[in-house]
Amino acid sequence: MTEGLLLVLDEGTTSTRAMLFDARGALHGTAQEELAQHYSHSGWVEHDAGEIWERTLACAQAMVAQAGGPERIAAIGITNQRETVVAWDKATGEPLCRAIVWQDRRTADFCAELKEQGHEDAVRAKTGLLLDPYFSATKMCWMLDNVAEVRVAAQAGTLAFGTVESWLAWKLTGGRSHVSDASNASRTLLMALEGGDWDEDMLALFGVPRAALPTIVDCAGTLGCADLLGAPIPICGMAGDQQAATIGQGCLAAGDTKATYGTGAFVLANTGTRPPRSEHRLLGTVLCQVAGTRTFALEGSVFVAGSLIKYLRDTLGLLDDAAQSEVLARSVPDSGGVTIVPALSGLGAPWWQPEARGIIAGLGFDSTRAHIARAALEAMAHQTRDLATAFADDGTAWTALRIDGGMAANDWMAQDVADILGIAVTRPDFVETTALGAAMLAAVGCGMHPALADAATAMLGSGRTFEPAMDESLRARRLARWDAALGMVRQ
Ligand code: G3P
Repeated sequence: MTEGLLLVLDEGTTSTRAMLFDARGALHGTAQEELAQHYSHSGWVEHDAGEIWERTLACAQAMVAQAGGPERIAAIGITNQRETVVAWDKATGEPLCRAIVWQDRRTADFCAELKEQGHEDAVRAKTGLLLDPYFSATKMCWMLDNVAEVRVAAQAGTLAFGTVESWLAWKLTGGRSHVSDASNASRTLLMALEGGDWDEDMLALFGVPRAALPTIVDCAGTLGCADLLGAPIPICGMAGDQQAATIGQGCLAAGDTKATYGTGAFVLANTGTRPPRSEHRLLGTVLCQVAGTRTFALEGSVFVAGSLIKYLRDTLGLLDDAAQSEVLARSVPDSGGVTIVPALSGLGAPWWQPEARGIIAGLGFDSTRAHIARAALEAMAHQTRDLATAFADDGTAWTALRIDGGMAANDWMAQDVADILGIAVTRPDFVETTALGAAMLAAVGCGMHPALADAATAMLGSGRTFEPAMDESLRARRLARWDAALGMVRQ
């Protein structure tokens, strides 16, 4: 086992962070900066890619200083919000327009057209994904069709497209590496689950020029060399944040399942080396690729989780801070009949209705903000139950669930998820599983640990288990109320 620290860059939807880990998984420092969200039109969500880079670099520099210099860092691991598309010019290294974020719904009509033309079955069979604005390809199409600078760069041969890890790797390496790891590439609609490179049929369907795309690489290994931090540091780990969290939860065997409650809620079940084929509107995705060998996962993606609490706090002003949701939820015996279906950016798995909009149902004059806060937290368990049903119908029933993400710190919610699912739910004591997973990949990539299983043994800690305790008739009433409200949203 070699010494040195691992610098993880965790670029999420609402903030960017840099964290330092050692070979045993102990945390040695964190720097964090918020990212501005741009909502210029209804259904649009954009980020400033320049800001993402500058804030990531500032956090990374702070951690390099904290480590005692770049020579103390053995490797960098990058993990990121997935699907979000950045377009930049290879000649200048500057973004050509705002990044289109995974939550953005602007390509819903285009996706509907492609569905009507009968393309969805072929897309699903190849990529494991569906025709939904969530994924990257239609965002790239939109940029090519609507942003003159992107079109001009494409014609000049200087256009670069990438998801966020690709953008950060490009910047960190001073433009020497235009790469994307297989877990992120599997979210674009442009790579077949079983294909090592971009898929010609998918490139043709979406009209994306291959020359603009990065090279697909492993999730662990020497993936690039960052030279902007005072000395060259190898980039040795890269994975989408949900895949990294799955690894950081130690879900390394087929059947192991985790749910991350971050901006959205994402459940991934490791399915081993066989690509999953869902019959119930779940996604097949690459969990990781190490030494050219892929491990796959079945995924259920729910678009709104922590972002609902942020909305209640920042837009409606119902909460002073996120932690208050737990205090309010516990202050009432139930939600007083209030049900929230948080389809604020459409419905993801298993419904896939981009045009759907959220509702707060069952309001009366006796409804208080405590009832609304409780209904918001209850919605997490309800959405997870819908995923559990789809996973079970696909033959991958959960016997236990590992949870993490910012919202999972909420004990009330963790217990409610266990109660509604009727299975034990375990939360690790160290909940930064996304960053830890990226650290594990970087540790394997730089030879600090020989394989992910060794990294898991050395770096993962213990957790707390929440056992289901809810009365069956109450559970049935809760779910009947949810199903009725969901029915209204889905009409
Ligand atoms: O697919 C979107 C996902 O990667 C976003 O993750 O952590 O921002 O909820 P998060």
